This record gives sequence, C-alpha cells and structure tokens, in this order.
Amino acid sequence: MIKVAIVIGSTRPGRKAETVARWVYEIAIAAKRNDAEFELVDIQDYNLPLLDEPVPPSMDRYSKAHTKAWSEKIGSFDAFVFVTPEYNHGIPGALKNAIDFLYKEWNNKAAGFVSYGSAGGARSVEQLRLVMAELQVADVRAQVMLSLRADFEKFTAFKPMPHQEAAVNTMLGQVIAWGAALKPLRNQKKPEA
Ligand SMILES: Cc1cc2nc3c(=O)[nH]c(=O)nc-3n(C[C@H](O)[C@H](O)[C@H](O)COP(=O)(O)O)c2cc1C
Repeated sequence: MIKVAIVIGSTRPGRKAETVARWVYEIAIAAKRNDAEFELVDIQDYNLPLLDEPVPPSMDRYSKAHTKAWSEKIGSFDAFVFVTPEYNHGIPGALKNAIDFLYKEWNNKAAGFVSYGSAGGARSVEQLRLVMAELQVADVRAQVMLSLRADFEKFTAFKPMPHQEAAVNTMLGQVIAWGAALKPLRNQKKPEA
C-alpha cells in the first residue's frame, strides 16, 4: 500500500484547482485500489510565506514551524499527483514556492500531473517536469490535460469530457507503479547526492 498525495496547486481565491483535485480524488477512491491510498493536500493550509529558510532545503536544517509542518506532511507520502493551472506559460508561483521549501521529502518518489489551461496546461507541466528532475522525482508519462474550452462550460463550470476519467486512471496506475518500485531507494538512509 503506498500513499499518494493529490496536491492542490493554486491558492488563488476562486481557484479551479480545488474542484479539479476533488474530481481526481473521487476517481481514485472509486477505483477501490488495494495498492494505494489517497489524500488531498492543500498548500494553502500550510500558510507558507515566500521561502524564508536561511539554509537551502537540501541541507535539511529547517528552522521554521511552517516548514516543519509542510515537511512532515510531504514526507509521509510515496507519490504525488500535482493538480496545476498554467500561469503565464508556467506553474503558479505558490506551487513552485511550496516545492522549493523541501528537498529530501520529494526524493525517490513518483509524480503525475493533472493540468488545465487554454492548451491543457501542457506548458506548465513541461516546466514542472524540469523541477521534478532536480528533486529526484520520477515523473510519469501519462498526463491529464484539461482544456478550459472543452472541459469547463463557458470556461467556468467544470464538466470534464468523458475520456478524461480514463486518463486519470491511466496516470494513477503509472504513479502507483513507480511509487512502489522506488521504495527500496527510499528505504536507504540517504538518497544518492
Ligand atoms: C496570473 C495568471 C496567468 C495566466 N496565464 C495563463 C497562461 O499562460 N495560459 C493559460 O492557458 N491560462 C492562463 N491563465 C488562465 C488560467 O488557466 C485560469 O485562470 C485558471 O482557472 C487558473 O487556475 P486556478 O483557477 O486554479 O487558479 C492565467 C491565469 C492567471 C491568474
């Protein structure tokens, strides 16, 4: 049994991210998998300021209570599904900031992506994949790309096209497989530098 976090990647008031993440969560639960459990993680709940740790996270010397709480939460998972919009062809600053706060908590884990935007949020996820590489996260190929035009009625109400549910399940299957396969590396005391 591996633990998968579904990370809500926008903190914007009126965000679509929460609705999309809850949809992913419901699909994950409905599949009744016996190899994974799922939890919604809202970065907004951790009140992270702009990175305010004096020492780089890879040195593992956290000083702030909010960093320690965020570390404990992210460290408890084996894999992640990032739900992200596209802001100016990239990932939201709030999501990048939350990722930057930590290091070892991401290492040797798996990640998949659910994105949305006029081009399905594809450009945002391409950026996120580069960030994942630096954090030693194995990012899966399958990707869920939601179109603001086709999957949101009048660009507002979330009405995903029927094929998107299967796309979520395919992505989850890959995330769970890689999250489980990397377990021996996570069990080592220290990841390869
Ligand atoms: C600062 C900002 C920049 C945006 N830039 C893009 C963009 O480059 N490409 C795109 O497809 N949508 C862009 N959008 C539209 C967002 O995809 C849309 O507003 C979406 O609902 C944002 O996600 P959220 O509601 O979860 O915050 C942008 C929105 C904001 C607020």
